[in-house]
Amino acid sequence: MNKVDVIVIGAGASGLMCAATAGYRGKSVLVLDHANKAGKKILMSGGGRCNFTNMDTAPKHFLSDNPHFCISALRRFTTQDFVDLVDRHGLDYVEKAPGQLFCEHSAKDLLDILLTELEWSGAQLSLNTTVKNIDFKEDFTVVKTNQGDFQCRSLVVATGGLSIPTMGASGFGYEIAKQVGHQVLPTRASLVPITVQPDRKNQFAALSGIACDISTTSQGMTFQEPMLFTHRGISGPAILQITNFWQPGDDLQINITPTLSLDDLIAVRQNTPKKSFESLLSQLLPKRLVELIKEEFNWLNERSAQTSNEQISDLFAYLTHFDVQPNGTEGYRTAEVTLGGINTNEISSKTFESQKQKNLYFIGEVLDVTGWLGGYNFSWAWSSGYCAGQYV
Ligand code: FDA
Repeated sequence: MNKVDVIVIGAGASGLMCAATAGYRGKSVLVLDHANKAGKKILMSGGGRCNFTNMDTAPKHFLSDNPHFCISALRRFTTQDFVDLVDRHGLDYVEKAPGQLFCEHSAKDLLDILLTELEWSGAQLSLNTTVKNIDFKEDFTVVKTNQGDFQCRSLVVATGGLSIPTMGASGFGYEIAKQVGHQVLPTRASLVPITVQPDRKNQFAALSGIACDISTTSQGMTFQEPMLFTHRGISGPAILQITNFWQPGDDLQINITPTLSLDDLIAVRQNTPKKSFESLLSQLLPKRLVELIKEEFNWLNERSAQTSNEQISDLFAYLTHFDVQPNGTEGYRTAEVTLGGINTNEISSKTFESQKQKNLYFIGEVLDVTGWLGGYNFSWAWSSGYCAGQYV
């Protein structure tokens, strides 16, 4: 039987980081993945350019039943530490939105860095490897796979969440956790497009492909970012962000003119009485959306001088309450992350070791730690992977 110090299950973001860190400490490390390629999610992330971190990474950007859990690791391996790492490899990157760092050319450049680090650290990678059984003994663990049996002292589970099953996602990490008595908190697809009720679906399908800046509110959280109409409903950064907070059954508040006040509308009538509200809205919103609004307000192209206070306040209410009743979400098929996961109250925030099973570690998205959209989920993968790599 092949014996190593550390086996990492999952050659994704956190697993590769952890394996290289442990390898540099002189540990013999084997990374197992059932996929035919390492880091598939890294390759598809950020539209193929991977939003690999956020310079503003802080605990407030993460959701968890145990909000303090992430603090220690984020402090011990910071965004700057990761930026220093990619700088050493000469990665070209850009700040696309404030704080959000993306590869300038391709996510493959970032994955190549991680694989180079893995190689330099001496860690081994075994792809197309399906774990059949895990047997925890007193001082070691036996991992049976389709490529043979392995024995390790420390076992790290870095199998990620449930999103995009076609890319290798599985609930295997949760099963291992349950096997040793961990609680797995309910999971839900998040950072995911929203689907809407049939009447709205037809309306939105006609707008499919257009985007506008909106603000959306749910459960006391508000995001002001672009929204995109799709054939099934709505998507875009504002909508993905709010799905971390929105609860099934809730309405979603949407303001499609967040920079416009009722006073602004009244001022249009006072200052430019010959101007129509249609021309004002055309400066703020895509043409097809203005056409839709015109179906509701057939006076929109008239001179604003002719409109009553009541008409103006009706229009304002429509624009600021373009609310939708979501049908649900597109689910794990297109979600970026999984909310929920292994209860972190049963994991050491210092070492990431299980409090139920000695020498078993959980890192990355499989844990109940979920970041906002904007590079935070990779920040968590690097921090948790690095910190566990110091102890395995
Ligand atoms: P990750 O999913 O990276 O890796 C898990 C690995 O485990 C995979 O290689 C998988 O094959 C393997 N595995 C699973 N089950 C197994 C089993 N039974 N046996 C063996 N191996 C198994 N985040 C961000 O910060 N910025 C971004 O731009 C994006 N963009 C983005 C786009 C899309 C489309 C998705 C789906 C996700 C993102 N994310 C993101 C989220 C980010 O990709 C995610 O949070 C991290 O990859 C999580 O890292 P992990 O290491 O935990 O899991």
